[in-house]
Amino acid sequence: MILTVYFKDGQFTEREGLNISIDDRGYYFGDGVYEVIKVYGGELFTAEEHIDRLFQSATKIKMTIPYSKEQLMEMVRELIVRNSISIGHIYMQVTRGAAPRTHQFPGSTVASVVTAYAVSNPRPMTSIENGVAVKSVEDIRWLRCDIKSLNLLGNVLAKQEANEANCVEALLHREGVVTEGSSSNLFGVKDGTIYTHPATNLILNGITRQVVLGISEKLAIPVVEKSFTLEEAYNMDELFLTSTTSEIMPISSVDGRSIASGTPGVLTRKLQKAFTLQIPTSNAGV
Ligand code: PDD
Repeated sequence: MILTVYFKDGQFTEREGLNISIDDRGYYFGDGVYEVIKVYGGELFTAEEHIDRLFQSATKIKMTIPYSKEQLMEMVRELIVRNSISIGHIYMQVTRGAAPRTHQFPGSTVASVVTAYAVSNPRPMTSIENGVAVKSVEDIRWLRCDIKSLNLLGNVLAKQEANEANCVEALLHREGVVTEGSSSNLFGVKDGTIYTHPATNLILNGITRQVVLGISEKLAIPVVEKSFTLEEAYNMDELFLTSTTSEIMPISSVDGRSIASGTPGVLTRKLQKAFTLQIPTSNAGV
């Protein structure tokens, strides 16, 4: 049996040795930021982009990370080795430290707490190949969805509502205008053009989203970063989600209404194929 090795504050330790404080501000306020990085064939995928975004999120909430990007990258690599991860992901978070509970920031002597772990899990191939059902849910989140913050209650409630309706993901909308999924970005295809919400404060600018935009450009597929309505989503030729763990996941239906024929569309397939070619090792642990 392989013991899971965690990282906390410069140390690698088993779960029992983690010593998380009840006064951690992540625990009290969700006062922190996080990242999820995919591992294929023991190698990291777009790790630099994720670590860059972790630092951007931290800056946006005026929090310092007590490590350099290089040190975090080294730590992540070490977690993969120590946990013998072939296919899976890294979860890492940084909170504003442990201090007696007051809403305002603690003093500068309180250091941020960095924790991370690695888990094995396979690519969700059945959903990637067949598509998933989603449910529209009102987007009740705050107005800084561009920050990958630990405050995920709006996302959690939306995902739960979708799951209770036997759907894999919630398609969030503000007054009928679609933003993103509860833990993914959303793309639509109409008449050969790809549409997706612009990277504003209303969505997380997903790393997978950016990879897809890059692939589309290379393949000369027209993309318009413009929001669309739920009504327009129902009538798209193709719809798909993107995220680190879902990759490019076709949507077969929204609110029980089939998207076109309900099977993954031509452009979705094309993007999936190109995406798979970018994965570190071929046949990445499928
Ligand atoms: N979710 N939008 C939201 C709200 C997300 O939480 C995520 C990621 C994305 C996609 O981002 P990326 O392509 O960088 O993974 C978009 C992660 C995987 C999670 O919370 O588990």
